[in-house]
Amino acid sequence: MDKEKLRLVRQNFCRVFGDEGDIRCYFSPGRVNLIGEHTDYNGGHVFPCALTIGTYGVARKRNDRKLRFYSVNFNKLGIIEASLDELEYQKSLGWVNYPLGVLWAMEERGKKADYGFDLMVFGTIPNGSGLSSSASIEVLTGFIANDIYGFKFSNQDLALIGQYSENNFNGVNCGIMDQFAIAMGKENNAIFLDTSNLEYEYAPIKLDGMKIVIASSNKKRGLGDSKYNERRAQCEEALADLQTKLDIKSLGELSEEDFEEHSGLIKDSTNQKRARHAVYENQRTIKAVEALKNNDIETFGKLMNESHISLRDDYEVTGRELDTLVESSWEQRGVIGSRMTGAGFGGCTVSIVNEDDVELFVERVKRDYREKIGYDADFYIVSIGDGPVKVKF
Ligand code: GLA
Repeated sequence: MDKEKLRLVRQNFCRVFGDEGDIRCYFSPGRVNLIGEHTDYNGGHVFPCALTIGTYGVARKRNDRKLRFYSVNFNKLGIIEASLDELEYQKSLGWVNYPLGVLWAMEERGKKADYGFDLMVFGTIPNGSGLSSSASIEVLTGFIANDIYGFKFSNQDLALIGQYSENNFNGVNCGIMDQFAIAMGKENNAIFLDTSNLEYEYAPIKLDGMKIVIASSNKKRGLGDSKYNERRAQCEEALADLQTKLDIKSLGELSEEDFEEHSGLIKDSTNQKRARHAVYENQRTIKAVEALKNNDIETFGKLMNESHISLRDDYEVTGRELDTLVESSWEQRGVIGSRMTGAGFGGCTVSIVNEDDVELFVERVKRDYREKIGYDADFYIVSIGDGPVKVKF
């Protein structure tokens, strides 16, 4: 979080919406998942962390029922207007459907806003990069609504409300990982979350002499039109086949041995591969956190690499761009581990790299990517930050 950036957004807010009244300033992070991909809708474990990049928001309550939105990232769109009396998804409203969805989901939980608000946002998460810019806006909206309407939702509730709105208002069947990582973020810690019961623990990330490097493939990905929902449905079919003999509620309950013994129950061979990924990835995540606790970063890195291979071969969500980035990363000096992160089909990779080798790493992977793909990837050295905050000036 950079207070100077927020100050600039506040200035912009005053220019666009006027400077009178009670103007309040907020920040909500993005997230990166270190390991545990496509496990969160399979009752498995995930290991994400909140970032210090995210969404800045400046808001002021109105004295009518209008909602007005302005994004500094899309300033050509100007002010987008909506109303508390019409909380419905409308394609033409674009990103505004995320905050509207959250207000709608809060109404579903019995909390109705009396008056509208003006909201200006500015995101420092590369858009469509798989670092959860949408979940960041959802949690930001929930956090702001809590503050200006006096709602008392806990941060965990804000995560669930964000996910509910994304599933039921925006039509993406995402799991809980993104909103949870953002709402519950803690500086220098990743969150080891069991998505079957929302039990979680913080795990300190002490990367002495190492950095977390994110590479954005610049291949845009929209979750809604990607194959995300299809993967989820395939896992559900695989589970239903397994349930004909096994008493389980989710794929996350299976060990590798259980899976190997019973995988023949899954009729479709593609569904079998999808389920294998879900089961093995969950077990990898548990092992990776264990390794981290033992200060065994080498093993953690190896498990990251295996995660990518499984996402590439069994889950088939990587694609040429992400594979090029990761495969080049594996060849570079000082790389502990590298994998795609987020939903896949474009978006970003995450690598752990020795600090002294980062410069050369970026230079070489950038060069390889340009040669093979024909355009540039962008690189970010990121830090692990806190969940949403209100900032006073
Ligand atoms: C997206 C979804 C998450 C999760 C990941 C894959 O980010 O929003 O819920 O399923 O993909 O791990």
